[in-house]
Amino acid sequence: MVLRFRNIPGAAQLIAVLAAWCAFATGAVAETLVERGSYLVNAVMVCDGCHTPRGPAGLDMERHLAGGAIMWDTPAYTVWGSNITPDRDTGIGAWSTEDIKRLLTTGVRPNGVSVAPQMPYGFYKILTPEDAAAIAAYLKSIKPVTHEMPLPVYKAAAYPVPLPGAERSIGDTVPQDPIQRGFYLASLAHCMECHSRKPDGVQDFKNWWGKGGHEMKGPFGSVIVPNISSHKEKGVGAWSDAELKRVLTEGIGRDGRVLKQPMARQRYFSRMTEQDLDAIVAWVRTIPPIE
Ligand code: HEC
Ligand code: HEC
Repeated sequence: MVLRFRNIPGAAQLIAVLAAWCAFATGAVAETLVERGSYLVNAVMVCDGCHTPRGPAGLDMERHLAGGAIMWDTPAYTVWGSNITPDRDTGIGAWSTEDIKRLLTTGVRPNGVSVAPQMPYGFYKILTPEDAAAIAAYLKSIKPVTHEMPLPVYKAAAYPVPLPGAERSIGDTVPQDPIQRGFYLASLAHCMECHSRKPDGVQDFKNWWGKGGHEMKGPFGSVIVPNISSHKEKGVGAWSDAELKRVLTEGIGRDGRVLKQPMARQRYFSRMTEQDLDAIVAWVRTIPPIE
């Protein structure tokens, strides 16, 4: 091939110019599919929290995504965050790209068995096909780690509560409009998984949108999920954009307090682009006031 091009004067140069122009025209100058997947996994979607083992010093990044330390034991299921490294025996090394995309957006494994909704696939249905492929490409690129996780136990059927506006892919491209883009990112970051939970723990995306009130317990003690609606007193309606951004990128509340583990996502969110952070803030502002 190369030799043949050399025989046609100028062909190689022409191809180089064309390739550069294509990269420029699509805006995809530097970001590969794997890089996009890494951004989604490690800046926006925080898969670590459930899928990376924890030691006394916190997350064990030597065993990144090799299976989480948290067990969810509910009347419907007992599950742990799976080993999602490409290890063939104890991870998902035998899965195809299509298998991973299907799991992310429908919860169905290659063997036909659905995962528990603890895996927030209801929030991932909105993924563009390209972003789903990017996550799959990234998962296939990471270090395989042998780490056997306990098998899940299913006691009753359980499905995610549908997220209004996110029941299906948002389309072929990530929206540029800040509010739509913010909704896309906030779905992937599953903000409302916690912030629309009633005190009894049940999610209600119609009557409890952003209202908070659920008590979360863990090694960090206990914390009531706050109201993030635009209510001026009960929510964040009176906060500045900078104060909202500080929650995301520094894990610090308006009153200066260090936020507890469920919201201590600054290690991830601080890697987000300014455009994406601004979009999430713009979207938070659209949550109707509720008290
Ligand atoms: C809130 C916790 C949580 C988050 C966040 C989360 N997962 Fe999961 N995931 C789980 C749990 C729990 C399971 C296992 C459920 C079961 O066994 O029924 C699971 C299962 C999976 C599986 C199926 C693995 C198998 O062997 O069956 C894949 C793939 C997966 N998750 C990928 C991801 C990716 C990629 C992300 C981030 C984009 C992510 N998950 C974010 C909790 C989570
Ligand atoms: C795993 C559950 C969980 C997720 C996911 C989550 N939050 Fe939170 N959030 C909390 C908890 C719990 C607190 C309170 C922490 C504390 O007070 O120490 C909090 C605090 C906040 C606050 C500060 C409110 C106040 O009154 O102090 C804002 C703003 C906020 N979250 C917005 C978001 C946004 C935006 C997202 C998605 C990008 C998000 N949260 C995702 C659980 C969560």
